Amino acid sequence: MGDAQSLEAIKSTLGDKSIVMVGLMGCGKSAVGRRLAARLGLPFVDADEEIEKAAGQSIEDIFAEHGEPYFREGERKVLARLMRSGPQVLATGGGAFMNADTRAMIADRGISVWLKAELALLLRRVAKRNNRPLLKGADPQSVMQRLMDTRYPVYAQADITVESRDVPHDTIVGEIIERLARPAPAARSEEAQ
Ligand code: S3P
Repeated sequence: MGDAQSLEAIKSTLGDKSIVMVGLMGCGKSAVGRRLAARLGLPFVDADEEIEKAAGQSIEDIFAEHGEPYFREGERKVLARLMRSGPQVLATGGGAFMNADTRAMIADRGISVWLKAELALLLRRVAKRNNRPLLKGADPQSVMQRLMDTRYPVYAQADITVESRDVPHDTIVGEIIERLARPAPAARSEEAQ
């Protein structure tokens, strides 16, 4: 199948569902999601930015003033709203998929894509910005290792897993497109055999 044809096939299978990018801080959810959306001709939405808009505050300030549970509740509500308006490519914050309600909604209304990355790559990437509350005043390596231990088994429930690595974002986008273009039930049952 040609490129344009497979992009059209992906969009018609997607219908009004969203492609939802999942994974730890620094794995490339926004950067890859933005390019994936451009390739597919779909809108790109960043859930963290939408949470900031809804709160009129940065995520850093939400954590500092109201604490993490308040942020998580706002995150759940914003995602519930965003998931009603596909088709789109939606980048979630690293903790969003850990919420069971959010996961159920994504399973119902979306196709989830986990960008799985190794610790060293994530640490290199998160070192470039210092506005992530979970990493403030803490040892990033031990925080990220702990998050990998608790979150990777849950992220593994995503529909598609792609290894995020030090290659151009467009390479990762190409791999996601290739996976999305596979006829799902046949490809899955073949893999299982
Ligand atoms: C978080 C990840 C952040 C942001 C918040 C909490 C997390 O988003 O939502 O700081 O719990 O992993 P990114 O994954 O886009 O950095």
